[in-house]
Amino acid sequence: MSIEKSADKINGDFRRKSILSLGQFTPQDIDILFQETPRMQTTVEGQQQLIDLKGQVVSLLFYEPSSRSYGSFASAVQRLGGGIIPVQNPEIVASVAKGETLEDTVRTYECWSDGIIIRTRNPGDAAGAAKTAQFVPVINAGDGIGEHPTQALYDLYTIREKFGRLNDLTGVITGDLLNGRTVHSLLKGLALYQNNAVFLLSPESLRLPPKDITELTNEGLRLVEIDSVDDIPRDTNFWYWTRVQKERFASLHNYEAVKHQFILTPELLRTRGNDNMLLMHPLPRTGEIEAAIDLDPRSVYLRRQMRNGLFVRMALLALVMGK
Ligand code: CP
Repeated sequence: MSIEKSADKINGDFRRKSILSLGQFTPQDIDILFQETPRMQTTVEGQQQLIDLKGQVVSLLFYEPSSRSYGSFASAVQRLGGGIIPVQNPEIVASVAKGETLEDTVRTYECWSDGIIIRTRNPGDAAGAAKTAQFVPVINAGDGIGEHPTQALYDLYTIREKFGRLNDLTGVITGDLLNGRTVHSLLKGLALYQNNAVFLLSPESLRLPPKDITELTNEGLRLVEIDSVDDIPRDTNFWYWTRVQKERFASLHNYEAVKHQFILTPELLRTRGNDNMLLMHPLPRTGEIEAAIDLDPRSVYLRRQMRNGLFVRMALLALVMGK
C-alpha cells in the first residue's frame, strides 16, 4: 500500500500524468478535480457532447472482471468525444492468451492509443505498466489488492457533496480491509485531511495490515479497530460497507466462514445509525447489505455514488488528457 515510486506527484498539474495511487494527490489537487466535475455532470445531464478528448483513443485493458470501472471509463471517454479500444479478459481475447507479457501488451496498445486504463491482478502492476509506457499516461483501475484510486476519488466526492467538507469526519469501514483496494485508497484519501477518524470493522483474518495502520496513523488519520457492530458510534458521517473478496481466498471454506460476518440491516441502522449519514458501498455486493436498505434515503451506493464515478472519471480524463 505504500506510495508508488514511479507515479509523479500531481502538484497542481495533471497533464500526461499516470494516475496510480491516492498518494500522488494533495487536497489542492483533489480540489482542482472536484471543481472540474460539476461541468461534467451538467453536460451529461443536458445530453451535450464534450470534445475534451476529440481525436484521441484510450485502451481499456482489464485483466480482472469489472462492471463499474470498465463501463464508466468507457462511457467517460466517449462522452468526452474520444474513442476506445475495449479489451476485457485479455487472457482470452488478446495475445496474452499466447503468452504475451503485460509489458509487451502495454507496448502494443500504446502504439494505437493516447492513454491506457488498466485493471490488473497484482499490486504494483499498474505502476509497472506506467513505467513501460513511454508515451502515454496510465490510469490504475484497480491493481489486485493494491489500490483503486479513481474509486476513492469519487467516494470522496460523494462524501464532500453531502457534508461540504473532507475534514472533521468520522466514518466506519467494514468488510475485507486486507484485500479491499477501494478501502486502501479511500483511507489514504481521508488521511490527507485534518481531524478525520475511521472505525475499522472486519473479520479477524481480514484486518488492515499493521504496517498500513502505522502509515496512515503517522499521516494523522485516527483509526480505531472495533470487534462488533455494537462498538459503532452513533454520530458517524458515513458507513462504507464492503464485500469479503472471494476471489482472494485460496480456500472456499475459509471464505464461507467469514463472508457474512457483518451484515447491514434495518435493525442495525436503527440502533447504531443517525439521520444525517451516508450509506456507501463500492460494489459489487454479495449479501452484506439487506435489500431493504436500498430504499433508505441515506443509501447512495446504487445511484449517486456510481453516477459520481462517471463524472469524476470524466473530469480526471479531461485534466490528464484533455486539450
Ligand atoms: N467498484 C468497482 O471497482 O466495481 P467493478 O469491479 O465492477 O469495476
